[in-house]
Amino acid sequence: MSIILENVTKVYQSGEVETKALKNVSITFNEGEIVAILGPSGSGKSTLLNVCSGLDVPTDGKIQIDDDTISDMNTKELTKFRRNHLGFIFQQHNLLQTLSVRENVEVGRAVGEDPFDTEEVIDQVGLTPNIDKYPYQISGGEAQRVSIARAVVKNPKILFCDEPTGALDEETAKAILTVLEDLNETYKTTICLITHNPNIAKMADRIVKLNSGEVIESKENKNKQKAKTISWS
Ligand SMILES: Nc1ncnc2c1ncn2[C@@H]1O[C@H](COP(=O)(O)OP(=O)(O)OP(=O)(O)O)[C@@H](O)[C@H]1O
Ligand SMILES: [Mg+2]
Repeated sequence: MSIILENVTKVYQSGEVETKALKNVSITFNEGEIVAILGPSGSGKSTLLNVCSGLDVPTDGKIQIDDDTISDMNTKELTKFRRNHLGFIFQQHNLLQTLSVRENVEVGRAVGEDPFDTEEVIDQVGLTPNIDKYPYQISGGEAQRVSIARAVVKNPKILFCDEPTGALDEETAKAILTVLEDLNETYKTTICLITHNPNIAKMADRIVKLNSGEVIESKENKNKQKAKTISWS
């Protein structure tokens, strides 16, 4: 699915303080693209991801995902749209501690309209040997892979990732990014990836730079690299 933003503004009001987190943002993410979103802390990256995915509503402007104008949807419609089409991966994985790896992924599968096979997806993220373990029995990188499997198993058309490798070492991070790359290749899933690391942007088809709530650059990456070949620092 593609995402089109037209003149999107987001203003947060907390007490007397007004924060313009997004200022008149117009941008298009094409179907099947890996989009890297870069920018300093506070520049509006998470806000952009949240309004694109319907987790938050814009103050002004239009957001379209394929033929649906999500900025016109009510809460109930948005919830349904998110459940059917979108996947989310955050910095912290939020696994259910009392469920096994397989069961955590089943939770994601249960909400999908046309989900993938649980064991197949667990295999794709390299966790077959850990399938019957519980979250406390696996490493942080493995737990993040479970959260990716949980997001992916429902067969989302767009995957939104907010710093998914922020808490991981280079080797583990590259393994996670490779999983995202494989998904994008296999299923043409559109991937929006927020990162603080400009090197990670080298694996993207499009690089978007934010500063103070404005898109200062959106360009195609002509020298796309595989995540595992990126020089990290
Ligand atoms: N719920 C909120 N209420 C008030 N202000 C908010 C809220 N969420 C974000 N902001 C403000 O909006 C601006 C953009 O925040 P955002 O979280 O999008 O930044 P970011 O680029 O994701 O930063 P980081 O890299 O630190 O995660 C910041 O000035 C922030 O303080
Ligand atoms: Mg953020």
